[in-house]
Amino acid sequence: MDVITRPSEMIEEYLESSIDWSFLPENLAEAARYGTLGSGKRLRPVLVILSCEAAGGRAEDALPAAAALELVHCFSLIHDDLPALDDDSLRRGRPTLHVHAGEPMAILAGDLLLAMAFGELTRMKMSPKQVNSLVDELATGTRDMVVGQVYDTLGGLPAEQPALEQLQLVHRNKTGALLRAACRMGAICAGSDEPTHQIFTRYGETVGLMFQVVDDLLDVTQSTEHVGKATGKDSALGKRTYPGLLGIEGSKQVVDQLRNQACEALEPLGPAGVSLRDLCCYMAIRTR
Ligand code: IPE
Ligand code: IPE
Ligand code: MG
Ligand code: MG
Ligand code: MG
Repeated sequence: MDVITRPSEMIEEYLESSIDWSFLPENLAEAARYGTLGSGKRLRPVLVILSCEAAGGRAEDALPAAAALELVHCFSLIHDDLPALDDDSLRRGRPTLHVHAGEPMAILAGDLLLAMAFGELTRMKMSPKQVNSLVDELATGTRDMVVGQVYDTLGGLPAEQPALEQLQLVHRNKTGALLRAACRMGAICAGSDEPTHQIFTRYGETVGLMFQVVDDLLDVTQSTEHVGKATGKDSALGKRTYPGLLGIEGSKQVVDQLRNQACEALEPLGPAGVSLRDLCCYMAIRTR
């Protein structure tokens, strides 16, 4: 996918070469690198970079913020896979970190990545006010992701809400929050004004929900070998999902609606919004 190649190569190179893993004990460094490097799609940092460019900024200037978001995402995956949560043994086509390095190390490596993420933000060459805004976005996105994970695994949703609203609340939090943060952080990196910021908020929220609806669909339509993580597990674990509530066809219609809404949100950007539109269309039809 063209629009992804350049920014994802930039982020891969940054994670490999610009993050200093050397101050860590060897076993922790190995685990942290294992959980971060490898075959992730890097869609969240790509969103940061493309949002920054769409708002008039330079990709290079957004790299530490993009890496920060990917580090939080990697931490969330490591903990999501733990026996106490989804209990998965395959991630990104290889054993999950707790299978590879043991459960204590997986817990601690996840903790480390979260701390390193916020450390990355101090490398942004921006005004203290802008860095503050980035810290706020990343903290809010991470907080809401954890809220979503609690809803997903432990419950606590408002009981009076209809089932579809409950499901949206889970997905908007556990997945949507970090994608929303990605888009807003990109706009902050470009120094955008408040009205422009609203465009990225709307786009990010819509794409964020759509991303998890697609993930739910992949769980019921794709093979483990193809996606590189166990599929067919959500219903076995009793998860709330879109296919579970609306069926496969109903869920695909939701994806189409959300893709159209996300593209509409970009219209005020004119030609500057083209790469984000292409990315959104790709995210709607991805198969892994
Ligand atoms: C998986 O995210 C977790 C969800 C929030 C659905 P991705 O599908 O972006 O995973 P990687 O980073 O490419 O492995
Ligand atoms: C993951 O949702 C959300 C996270 C915060 C990591 P899932 O549990 O559906 O993600 P996968 O399918 O394991 O990647
Ligand atoms: Mg999960
Ligand atoms: Mg999971
Ligand atoms: Mg899933």
